[in-house]
Parts: sequence; structure tokens; C-alpha cells
Amino acid sequence: MRIAIVGADGQLGSDLVKVLRSSHDLIPLTQADIEVTSPDSVQAMLRIHQPELVMNMAAFHKVDVCEDEVEPTFAVNAYGVRTLALACRAHNAVLLHMSTDYVFGSDKTRSTPYVETDAPAPINAYGISKLAGELFVQYLTDRYYILRVCGLYGVAGSAGKGGNFVELMLRLAREGKPIKVVDDQRLTPTYTVDVAHQIAALIETGRYGLYHATSQGDCTWYEFAAEIFRQSGLTPDLGRARTGDFGEKATRPAYSVLENKALQSIGLDQMRPWHEALEAYLKERQSTTERSRKL
Ligand SMILES: NC(=O)c1ccc[n+]([C@@H]2O[C@H](COP(=O)([O-])OP(=O)(O)OC[C@H]3O[C@@H](n4cnc5c(N)ncnc54)[C@H](OP(=O)(O)O)[C@@H]3O)[C@@H](O)[C@H]2O)c1
Repeated sequence: MRIAIVGADGQLGSDLVKVLRSSHDLIPLTQADIEVTSPDSVQAMLRIHQPELVMNMAAFHKVDVCEDEVEPTFAVNAYGVRTLALACRAHNAVLLHMSTDYVFGSDKTRSTPYVETDAPAPINAYGISKLAGELFVQYLTDRYYILRVCGLYGVAGSAGKGGNFVELMLRLAREGKPIKVVDDQRLTPTYTVDVAHQIAALIETGRYGLYHATSQGDCTWYEFAAEIFRQSGLTPDLGRARTGDFGEKATRPAYSVLENKALQSIGLDQMRPWHEALEAYLKERQSTTERSRKL
């Protein structure tokens, strides 16, 4: 398939390029190549490259910044997605779009994973903008895949967030200071390589629709940090914090665990338990570090 990847140098985008490049004709696009907030730029990309499938990894997703900078947030996460959806429809291309667990969160007593048929109810500007993006895709196109993911980490680090949680924890441990991590937000950290493989499998099916695609199981950010240190053989001074302790601007869901029910229903859920995925990530970053040391 001829596939354009928007945000190809981001965290998930770069793993998609690695996973798909041997089996597809890829057009990896960075923000220097395409600006999703510009209809001219988006239309030109579709006209020039004529992809059969467009994968949109672009996002404005610094969750606290989104609270104040609502216009750029919506420009990328909602209107930019609308522009992509319209252009894909005009050029007869399929659109694959990434969304988030943060489309949920208003149910404060929730303790069972959300499935795709649960009604979204975001509680911050980022989540509202991502839900608007999803709705534009569903309203404007018939041939789409929307994948909701959660707590992504990959070796490239999130371009939009300036790194990833695992790297942040490892850096803080190296610095030797006490570390405090919130223990009242339950989620599923998810390795971008696994999502890239899941996407590779899904696009072969032509089964369009909305999918949850996270690792299996769940934990709090504190429990995730504790497991990162356990697997890395580190013993920093790790303590529990509560939401709000760091003066965060955005409200975050206390529980945003997703179940990959739609993938399960088509026999395609290949996501592994989150602590196994973490182990694979730690191995990958180790071999990446060793390779770059040899160069
Ligand atoms: N990271 C998470 O924990 C998480 C959780 C749930 C859902 N998601 C969703 O998963 C997707 C991928 O996330 P990620 O962590 O891989 O993101 P990322 O590393 O921040 O990558 C985003 C990519 O999009 C590009 N981009 C940003 N704004 C753009 C624009 N206006 N026009 C064109 N390209 C633009 C960025 O380019 P530059 O580098 O040049 O800015 C970057 O290559 C996003 O849709 C995000 O909302 C992420």
C-alpha cells in the first residue's frame, strides 16, 4: 500500500516507519513537509503523493498547555483532522487517526475498563479537542480507522511532550533526588512499537472503525515508576503523590483504562501485558544506546 505518515518523526510515527517500511510504499512526512493546520498544505500533499492511506500522528498534546492555548489545540487536534478527513475523502484515501484515553474521565467512580461503545466524556481541553477530531473523522469519512491509545512511550520520545515518562523516571533516578509520582490516576502505559505492529495488522483487514489499542492490564503512574525502577535494578527514593500536588492546570481522569474490545471481537488484539512491553522497551533503549556508543 502507498501510505503517507503525517508526524513520521514523532514517537509513534518513527516506530510506524520502522515497522511498515519493508512491506509498504511509505511517504514519511514531518512538519516541514506538511502542516495540518493549513488546508493548502494538506491538499497539496494528497495531490502530489496520491496515498491510498494517510496516517495522522500529528497532535498538540501538552495537556496542561492545552488548557490555556485552546486555539492551537483545536487547530491541530480538531480542525486539522477535519482538513485531513476532507482531503482524504476528496482523494479517495483511507484515513487512520490516533486518539486518546482522555476522551473519557468524567465518571469519578469508574473502575472497569472503557470499551469503544462507552459514551466519551472528556474533562480537559485536550480531551475535548481529540474527541472533536474523532467526530469530524466519523462524520466526514466512511473509510477510517481511529485508534485510541494511552500513556505512550517509545525510543524517539514524544516530540510534543519533550520525552517520555520512562526516560524522565530514569533521569530523575540518575540525579539521585527524591521522586514523587501520582498514585491516583489509573491507566495503561503502552509501548509505541506494539501499537505500530497492531496498526500494521489492522490495516491489512479493511475493517474500518473505532478501536482501543493499549497494552493489557493497568497501573497508576506511581506503580509504573516502581516497575521501571524494579526492571532497571534501581532503588531511588520513590514516594506517592496525589493529583494536584504539582499545581497541574488540567484535570486528569482518575481512571482511563481501555479494553481492546473491538480488536478482540475481530480476533486481532495482539497487545501484550504492560510490564512485558516495558521490558521490551528497556531492552530496545539499551541496544540503541550501545549502538550509538559504538558509532
Ligand atoms: N504520547 C502519549 O502519551 C499519547 C497518549 C494518548 C494518545 N496519544 C496520541 O497519539 C498520537 C501520537 O502521539 P506521539 O506521542 O507519538 O506524538 P509526538 O511524538 O508528539 O509526535 C507528533 C508528530 O506530529 C508532528 N506535528 C505536530 N503538530 C503538527 C502540525 N501542526 N502539522 C504537522 N505535523 C505536526 C510533530 O512534528 P514536530 O516534531 O515537528 O512538532 C511530530 O512529528 C497523537 O495523536 C496523540 O494525541 C498520545
